[in-house]
Amino acid sequence: MRIVLVGPPGAGKGTQAAYLAKNLAIPHISTGDLFRANISQGTDLGKKAKAFMDAGELVPDEVTIGMARDRMNQPDAIGGFLLDGFPRNVSQAEALDEALKEDGVTLDAVLDLEVPEEEVVKRIAGRRICRNDSSHVFHVSYSAPKQEGVCDVCGGELYQRDDDSEATVRKRLEVYHTQTEPIIDYYKAQDLVVTIPALGKVEEVTERAMAALQGGE
Ligand code: AP5
Ligand code: MG
Repeated sequence: MRIVLVGPPGAGKGTQAAYLAKNLAIPHISTGDLFRANISQGTDLGKKAKAFMDAGELVPDEVTIGMARDRMNQPDAIGGFLLDGFPRNVSQAEALDEALKEDGVTLDAVLDLEVPEEEVVKRIAGRRICRNDSSHVFHVSYSAPKQEGVCDVCGGELYQRDDDSEATVRKRLEVYHTQTEPIIDYYKAQDLVVTIPALGKVEEVTERAMAALQGGE
């Protein structure tokens, strides 16, 4: 399957993607995680991305689209993938359509995680992620690690993301409304959008998403 996950910052895209990708046996591709991995490795791409991320702005398309395409061209993604945080504006959605067309494949669904803004603010404020791998995500009260400050998955150190400060979160939400939300209409026109209410327990949201995907086949 080829799936796109959309939703505001803190909606639970990364959290859900981990479970959905496992259930569906497809790779989880998060452009945010790819940027963070580049930043921690000190690559040129990471250096280009960091200032935009810290400001809550989108990293320019010329950097982002190439990086996403390279990842989608890896052997493990040939049969399908779950995109988290890409596309994030209409020109990225158009570039993705172009790439899929070249490969002779199509998207199966766009899952739109719907969460009220006051909840995403709480989710982001308590989020802690792993230094070794930013796809290992916890929350100080909603999904606390067994040992405070230590990743349950790999034992890495947990920390708060640089872009999770209050001012940057406000900017990221604004960018989401102005630049990312329009892709929902773009995909509605292709009849691909399924809205998933994303309040409730993590596993309940996963069940809703799985039911929507299975129902839509
Ligand atoms: P990115 O890393 O994609 O961040 P984001 O979209 O802002 O989303 P988040 O990762 O903050 O939230 P999430 O929805 O994944 O929530 P999570 O599962 O962690 O992008 C970061 C930056 O990179 C961008 O601002 C931009 O600069 C750049 N970038 C990335 N992609 C780009 C692109 N395509 N183009 C240009 N620039 C790009 O959950 C949040 C918290 O809630 C966690 O603590 C979790 O434990 C908790 N939680 C999750 N589900 C539940 C639940 N059901 N109940 C209670 N708590 C829950
Ligand atoms: Mg995420």
